[in-house]
Amino acid sequence: MIWIAILAAILGGALCAVVLLRLVVGLRGSRTKLRTEVSSLTTKNSDLDAAVSSLTTKNSDLDAAVSSLTTKNSDLDAAVSSLTTKNAELAVEVSSLFSSRQADVQRFTAADEEQRRLIRVFREAGDTRNDGQQRLNTALRDGVQDAKKRGTSAHHNAQSLSGELIHGSKRFTSEAERASLLDTVIPSLGLDWITERHLLYLEHAVPALEGRLLGRLAAPSSSMVLRSLVVLAAPDPTRVLEIGTLYGVSAAFLHEVVRFGKTVFHQTVIDPFFGYYGQDNPDLFTPVPVIEAVFRENMRRVGATDSDFAVEVGLAEDDAIRTRLTDQTFEVLIIDGDHSYEGVKRDFENYADHVAPGGYVIVDDYQGPSWPDVTRYVDETVFTDPRFEVVSSVLRTAVVRRRS
Ligand SMILES: C[S@@+](CC[C@H](N)C(=O)[O-])C[C@H]1O[C@@H](n2cnc3c(N)ncnc32)[C@H](O)[C@@H]1O
Repeated sequence: MIWIAILAAILGGALCAVVLLRLVVGLRGSRTKLRTEVSSLTTKNSDLDAAVSSLTTKNSDLDAAVSSLTTKNSDLDAAVSSLTTKNAELAVEVSSLFSSRQADVQRFTAADEEQRRLIRVFREAGDTRNDGQQRLNTALRDGVQDAKKRGTSAHHNAQSLSGELIHGSKRFTSEAERASLLDTVIPSLGLDWITERHLLYLEHAVPALEGRLLGRLAAPSSSMVLRSLVVLAAPDPTRVLEIGTLYGVSAAFLHEVVRFGKTVFHQTVIDPFFGYYGQDNPDLFTPVPVIEAVFRENMRRVGATDSDFAVEVGLAEDDAIRTRLTDQTFEVLIIDGDHSYEGVKRDFENYADHVAPGGYVIVDDYQGPSWPDVTRYVDETVFTDPRFEVVSSVLRTAVVRRRS
């Protein structure tokens, strides 16, 4: 019995142990499960925390955005309000401008009508004026023609008084003479800037200067105008050699009108100063003696000093003079001394080689009625000399230029 009790106890104990064991195993399983669940819940919890935190951040972002939009909204409200005000102001302004424009239009319309009326008046006045102008033009033309006739006759009187009728030295240039200078001589000299006004100035300068000097110019004004143009066109520095100077009026004229265009302007003159072609014939018309002192006085009267000129007293063919001038070069040679064939020939042969390249030879009285020899020699020799080219043959003056 005991054994049964013991066995029963043992069996009971074993059963209990099994039950306990199972209980323990079951508890252990539950615990593990619980642990897993706790862990999972913990993870979820922290996920939820993160989500809550993210939502909180987003919420405050949204709050900020809402606040910013609210601000912008009120800015827009303010802008809309300001624009509404401006709009109203502009409407007032437009309305005012419109009224003022309407007033302008009325004024302009009135002015336009007035202008049309004035144009009609001016047209009528213009027609009247044209009639008057035509009558005036006719009267002026008649008057000018009359004045020209009177002027010409006065000029001829003056010319006559100044000796034209006696020795052919006119003191004016004709239209035809000025035209020949302008059309042929001036272009050949390359003086394209010279106009008719310059020519008229030079023409008037001749008698004006002659009136201030002693003696007379033994050449017409036109030749003197041409001579001064040639000297003006000559290379600068300009040294002139004049054979036959008489009273020096030509030299004085050149000094007066040409020297300002030159850096150096110097003249050498040769004359025996023994009267107009001889002692017994002091001068054709004037009481002034042909002497060196008169020449010097005339040069002094145009402001020339000793350094502006040199005087060779004697004949151009004199050995002493030729020797003194041997080495000298001139940009202009004026042959106006002995007007015989032999005389011009001698002067040209003796002095043409003294002319610098580009320089000029002027032979006075070419085609002059009293000096046929001069014309013959120039035509035969000067105009055909290969050292020179022909520049001009008008106004009683032959001009050639030394080739370079
Ligand atoms: C026509 S006048 C000169 C005019 C001057 N050139 C003028 O334009 O007023 C001639 C001058 O040449 C001078 N003469 C004449 N034969 C000469 C010669 N062989 N050498 C230099 N002069 C001479 C005369 O004494 C005279 O004074």
